[in-house]
Amino acid sequence: MTAVQRSNQLKLTAWGYELWRRRSTGWLTGGRWSLASELEALRCWSGAGPGQYWLDLGCSTALYARTLASQGARVTAVDLSTAMLAAAARRCRDLSGIDFLCADIEGTGLQRFLAGQGADGIAMGATLNECHQPELALSRAAAALRPGGKLFLMYLKPAGGAGGWLAQLPFRAAGVRFCAPAAVGTQLARCGLTRLQQRSERNWTLELYRKQERSVANPKMST
Ligand SMILES: C[S@@+](CC[C@H](N)C(=O)[O-])C[C@H]1O[C@@H](n2cnc3c(N)ncnc32)[C@H](O)[C@@H]1O
Repeated sequence: MTAVQRSNQLKLTAWGYELWRRRSTGWLTGGRWSLASELEALRCWSGAGPGQYWLDLGCSTALYARTLASQGARVTAVDLSTAMLAAAARRCRDLSGIDFLCADIEGTGLQRFLAGQGADGIAMGATLNECHQPELALSRAAAALRPGGKLFLMYLKPAGGAGGWLAQLPFRAAGVRFCAPAAVGTQLARCGLTRLQQRSERNWTLELYRKQERSVANPKMST
């Protein structure tokens, strides 16, 4: 487990997480996006609704899960951190249609949980940046989707220039992975997913992918 993954196990991190999250989109995009516009993109791009089954992978306090459930989708919110899941459960207590799973999305637990039932969609907000092996997490997510299913991603890219690289250095040391969109796209293409949408502002990126109707056998798990 990386230092950043361990920090998410703390009750204090879980307690304060949403305070940071309400402002982080604005800070990271220089005010061009807000949490409200990010969630609006999730609502519009996902097309989630009644009768659909979604996963929120690396849910923290289940912000994405709540958004998807408010559109009528059934959602399983997944996280490695029991402290985050407890905070998520408190925030979801007045909503129906959300359940919780403690699992490492880079492992095989999610596939066992789904038992062959592919999700209609997956949302992953900044989870890739905290995964030990983001490409493995992408392969696992792709495998958890049904053919035709959608993958909504928000993640942070590597900064350009020496100043940006230096600013990201302490985060890298704590285990944060900054993901290049080209590498994300290549890994997902190997798994049979095509990019439908992309919006980027500074180092912040939102993307939507769709899995081909015909699934790809044995995608290479590049790590
Ligand atoms: C930056 S937070 C993002 C939370 C949320 N998706 C959002 O948009 O606000 C990343 C979350 O992913 C979880 N996480 C990191 N690596 C994980 C893994 N391998 N399996 C499951 N959850 C993981 C962390 O515990 C943390 O709660």
